[in-house]
Amino acid sequence: MVIEMAEEKKDTIAVLLEEKRLFHPPEDIVENSNVKKWMNEHGIETYEELLEKAKDIEWFWGEVSKDVVNWYEPPKKILEWKPPYAEWFVGAKYNIVHDALDKHIGTPRENKVAYYFEGEPGDTRKLTYKDLYVRVNKLANALKDLGVKKGDRVGIYLPMIPELPIAMLACAKIGAIHSVVFSGFSALALRERINDCGAKVVITCDSFYRRGKKVPLKKQTDEALKEAPSVEHCIVYRRTGDEVPWNKERDLWWDDLIKDKPEECETEKMDANDPLFILYTSGTTGKPKGVVHRHGGYAVGVATTLKWVFDIKDDDIWWCAADIGWITGHSYIVYGPLILGATSVIYEGAPDYPKPDRWWEIIDKYKVTILYTSPTSIRLFMKYGEEWVKKHDLSSLRLLGSVGEPINPEAWIWYYKNIGKERCPIMDTWWQTETGQFMIAPLPITPLKPGSATKPFPGIQAEVFDAEGKPIKNAGGNLVILKPWPAMLKGFYGDPERYKQTYWSRYPNVYLAGDVARKDDDGYFWLQGRADDVLNVSGHRIGNSEVESALVSHPKVAEAAVIGKPHELKGECIVAYVVLKEGVEPSKQLKEELREHVAIQMGKIARPDEVWFVKDLPKTRSGKIMRRVIRAKALGQDVGDTSTLANPEAVEEIARAT
Ligand code: WTA
Repeated sequence: MVIEMAEEKKDTIAVLLEEKRLFHPPEDIVENSNVKKWMNEHGIETYEELLEKAKDIEWFWGEVSKDVVNWYEPPKKILEWKPPYAEWFVGAKYNIVHDALDKHIGTPRENKVAYYFEGEPGDTRKLTYKDLYVRVNKLANALKDLGVKKGDRVGIYLPMIPELPIAMLACAKIGAIHSVVFSGFSALALRERINDCGAKVVITCDSFYRRGKKVPLKKQTDEALKEAPSVEHCIVYRRTGDEVPWNKERDLWWDDLIKDKPEECETEKMDANDPLFILYTSGTTGKPKGVVHRHGGYAVGVATTLKWVFDIKDDDIWWCAADIGWITGHSYIVYGPLILGATSVIYEGAPDYPKPDRWWEIIDKYKVTILYTSPTSIRLFMKYGEEWVKKHDLSSLRLLGSVGEPINPEAWIWYYKNIGKERCPIMDTWWQTETGQFMIAPLPITPLKPGSATKPFPGIQAEVFDAEGKPIKNAGGNLVILKPWPAMLKGFYGDPERYKQTYWSRYPNVYLAGDVARKDDDGYFWLQGRADDVLNVSGHRIGNSEVESALVSHPKVAEAAVIGKPHELKGECIVAYVVLKEGVEPSKQLKEELREHVAIQMGKIARPDEVWFVKDLPKTRSGKIMRRVIRAKALGQDVGDTSTLANPEAVEEIARAT
């Protein structure tokens, strides 16, 4: 029996892993899919034909926009492309909240559940579209009364509770620009972001639950606000009822603030290209970049991709298990699903709390039909084993999804067999904070290859370029996007030069994604990780240089180099090589102190797994630390030619690190 099982398992894996063998989605899924319906309506027969037709991007995005958005005033032009700036739906008057909320009111959908909320301790809430609408309006009115106007920035530092989408929508409704800071980030990371965008108001909560403990968000916010001159008010939602420090001049309880506010609030009619939000993401320098997204194109991009890739229908229960503090949550927990009038699940806590079957319990309880998560989470559940899954009925699931990093075939197979019970296609979606929407992803009609994000979404033109900018096949190269897309970032907040430099300077008029990829003979893309100095830890982007700056800000550190090392669960983990200042004694305790120091500076996700002390770091003659060489040495790989280094002997230091 055991042997038989093993044989059978090997068989499936062998079949699925062989690159040439395609995995075809079940016929009923194909036939009933949203995309198939659209193809029928447009006289398109095959997937290939769809991709071909959609190469006329203005026609394609103009056409699909009709199914998902309602303009106040229609666009005069679909696209104006002045590289590196694209304006989509030029001249349209719009507000994304009109589609996310307003349009559902007065229709039967107003009584449909928008969010099922499951708190970590097991408390639950259910918000219909009408509930959400009223709460958003009340908060929007409150913000207005505090003097928040169109174009003002509002910082939001909230955990995974319904008040997070409510706060975002309230800002958008009145034309203010929200900037959500992930609740796992530190006070200093929050401060840096608030100051960069000059937020007028910050919205937070007392504390929230994580792994059975309470995280004191208000206290952290206070720390951040010690040096944040632009902030006039801090709105505090009561999540746990904890006592919190209070600044009478500045702080306001959410509940008191909205109590007497009207339940209606007029939605600000914006230009389709007015900014909707800023979301900071890591880059190759120490300072995070404020990626700006806009109302119109973003709405079309996220709603269309969600509708097609995850095939959202009226009776689906959608669970995107990301945090709203990242782009995945912005696009696919808040804006996309609400525009489509979908029902989503929001879960506050840790995936394995109190037991490793919490997620499977939630799927069973809410009869989730589509689950979207990351390879890191899948590997975590793999580690706990199938027994935890088997305790629950997962037969409601129809589709699965993956995002954040390349999914290794072992995780793909495990996910496919144990969660999808060999019934549910896995949608591996490649995209970025900057792209706002899925870029390379299958549709439910696309034959899959485990480990490949398959082909670009219709209307997206991607390639793999060699150093000279020629498209290449069957070899690793730079992933590029050739044509603009609707949810494309507007730029970086207050830093146009860096925007041009980062994406548009490598190849003329072509967007450089920063990922290495390979395109196979069938035109399938295989993502291989970042090409630049950005780490991918548990699917989260962390700049090597950000961690290095955090380390160097410690009074005992002279220099630091940070590299990523393969990690079984996290994909990649952070390893730091540190040169101490003259006279400082290395010690185990100091290593701990440095790890903690980074956690305080940036948040726990950036805490290095390993800290090593060295006397010197390999550098170029111009003084640039050679992370590539350090990494090769640390991983026991060939370090290549070191003759151009200023101090080749420092390479051996890495091997001698203590
Ligand atoms: C990586 C997350 C492989 C990639 C939505 C990208 C992926 C970065 C995938 C963006 C995937 C995301 N396969 N790699 N399906 N999805 N990535 O901005 O390196 O947090 O550049 O957006 O994550 O991370 P970000």
